[in-house]
Amino acid sequence: MAKITILYYSKEGHTKALAEVIKSILDPMLPARIQSELVSATTLNFERLKDSAAFILGSPDYFSYVAGYMKTFFDDLWEHRAIFKDRPAFGFITHGGGGKATKALEDLCGSFKFNYIKPTISTGKPADEKLKTQIKANCEKLLKLLK
Ligand SMILES: Cc1cc2nc3c(=O)[nH]c(=O)nc-3n(C[C@H](O)[C@H](O)[C@H](O)COP(=O)(O)O)c2cc1C
Repeated sequence: MAKITILYYSKEGHTKALAEVIKSILDPMLPARIQSELVSATTLNFERLKDSAAFILGSPDYFSYVAGYMKTFFDDLWEHRAIFKDRPAFGFITHGGGGKATKALEDLCGSFKFNYIKPTISTGKPADEKLKTQIKANCEKLLKLLK
């Protein structure tokens, strides 16, 4: 069974809510051989991540950067970066009206050489139909890369 990990950090719940929206859009699209798993970055565990075929990575925008827990994810996994090379991924950011952390997340994913899908999902409010359409398009691209 292949796995897609939706890894996120959330303090006040907005990013967790978006992670759950993404899972609810992704799951009905999954073939029987693939499952998705929601993982909080606070429970980071390399053993749990290393077999993941693809990643969806989410963070709040903190001071125009990703939250510390997400940075720790990247810092801690740097020594294992060869494992993540070319794995399909896309990112999502929730923010309070800025959203500059999108670039930080893209740069970090670039350093790990993920096969990164754009656009990065970014929102300062609960997911509306337009955002859900964008999420679905990113999920379709992700699944195409897993074929
Ligand atoms: C410490 C801190 C720093 C923040 N910095 C920014 C920022 O630079 N730009 C921005 O647009 N929003 C900023 N915000 C707002 C959060 O990104 C936004 O509320 C986000 O949705 C919180 O996610 P969460 O509910 O998953 O914790 C900041 C919030 C906190 C707590």
